[in-house]
Amino acid sequence: MNRHSSFDPVTDDIITALKKAVGKENVQTDAEALELCASDETEDLAFQPEVVASPETAEGVCRILRIAWENNIPVTPRGGGTGLSGGALPVCGGIVLSTMKLNRILEIDQKNLMAVVEPGVITQEFQEEVEKVGLFYPPDPASRGSCFLGGNLAECAGGPRAVKYGVTKDYVTGVEAVMPDGTLIHHGGKLLKNVTGYNLTQLIIGSEGTLAVITKIYLKLLPLPRYRQTLLIPFASLEASAQTVPAIMNAGIVPSALELMERDAVKMAEKHLSTTFPSSDAAAHLLIEIDGNDISTIEKASEQVCEIALKEGATDVLLADTSAKQQELWDLRRALGEAVKSVSIYKEEDTVVPRYNLVPLLLGVKEISKRYGITTVCYGHAGDGNLHVNILKMDMSETEWTDNLDPAIEEIFKLTVSLGGMISGEHGIGYVQRKYLPLAISETELDLMKRLKQVFDKKGILNPSKIFP
Ligand code: LAC
Ligand code: ZN
Repeated sequence: MNRHSSFDPVTDDIITALKKAVGKENVQTDAEALELCASDETEDLAFQPEVVASPETAEGVCRILRIAWENNIPVTPRGGGTGLSGGALPVCGGIVLSTMKLNRILEIDQKNLMAVVEPGVITQEFQEEVEKVGLFYPPDPASRGSCFLGGNLAECAGGPRAVKYGVTKDYVTGVEAVMPDGTLIHHGGKLLKNVTGYNLTQLIIGSEGTLAVITKIYLKLLPLPRYRQTLLIPFASLEASAQTVPAIMNAGIVPSALELMERDAVKMAEKHLSTTFPSSDAAAHLLIEIDGNDISTIEKASEQVCEIALKEGATDVLLADTSAKQQELWDLRRALGEAVKSVSIYKEEDTVVPRYNLVPLLLGVKEISKRYGITTVCYGHAGDGNLHVNILKMDMSETEWTDNLDPAIEEIFKLTVSLGGMISGEHGIGYVQRKYLPLAISETELDLMKRLKQVFDKKGILNPSKIFP
């Protein structure tokens, strides 16, 4: 039992009340359901909840939270369970509030280029639905096939296209959400501008399910770009690949993706997908996409990218000119996370620095790895200065691993901060990065954040043990 002593247990009476509130078919206490909600994609962590509730309406969410509030029971909101910082882990037991059945696309408003959705809609399904009518929802986290839009808001998910199109927060113009005491709030709407009071929508985005449970989302859409070209560029050194990133951006080109993949990551993905990729022996690759409506402009930009890359030390430039070839490359890219974690016990970091500091970050990470004798495998959204640093245990002894891991992470984070960076770009602080937060955020700001949490949730029942050290 993980239940924290400051909370009360889920008794039979509570279960009866929950069943009455949202229907008995939406309340589960069987071992399989509890097991399913005990973990997300974060390392191998697991914490059993006492009950899983899956309301079908916002009113159901209100009722669950009212019961929890009155009875001092922790509630952990859960989307697709694909998080990488443990945001959905029910670390204090209690209720897991799954948004799985709040999964309707309520409206695709072509007149206003807006959509209204519930939080349990799968990101890729939403993207495909809007594409059918020639529209575009750019945020595309690697887990888009199974993550939920609500979770994307909670963590402010990014993905490869953020370099041109921005992250989740840039598409959300309003939310309906439920406060921890069960009160329904509404902010914004189908509005491209709105300074009517504080921006509660943007406060809730990225708050990792600690302030309110999102029940409705207003999303901005774009016209779907007509053409796409993908380039795979191998380099003989990691440094040269990273140096090419600002060189491309500073030449006035705005790629729709600019990803960096270190050799080990590509090799692990090849093995994971049982396939081989061109030039996989290269020290590093840039994977670049350029999109737009005018094919000749795209081709010109691609040529410019080739010239810059070759000048910076690329050994080749491969053009994926069919959608099948493009798909294959993006499947490889999206599989990196899964592939790397399948190799060994691991710890994933999500550093972000100003783009131009990617080179010192990468070199620094490699120097720190060497000094501590740890294996790091890096890849990520280089165009955003967002580097995923995966630390693998491999054949290190248990003692070596536990002795070296923490100091190495601290050094990586201190370096990141010294380069003007932050310790998470898109995965969040959640459960596993809490202790490092003071490395990046001052006491004054931390205190301000804690007081904001108090305003929303003075009992601390909503997603406890997250964000704050
Ligand atoms: C990715 C996830 C790990 O970029 O954020 O693949
Ligand atoms: Zn990522």
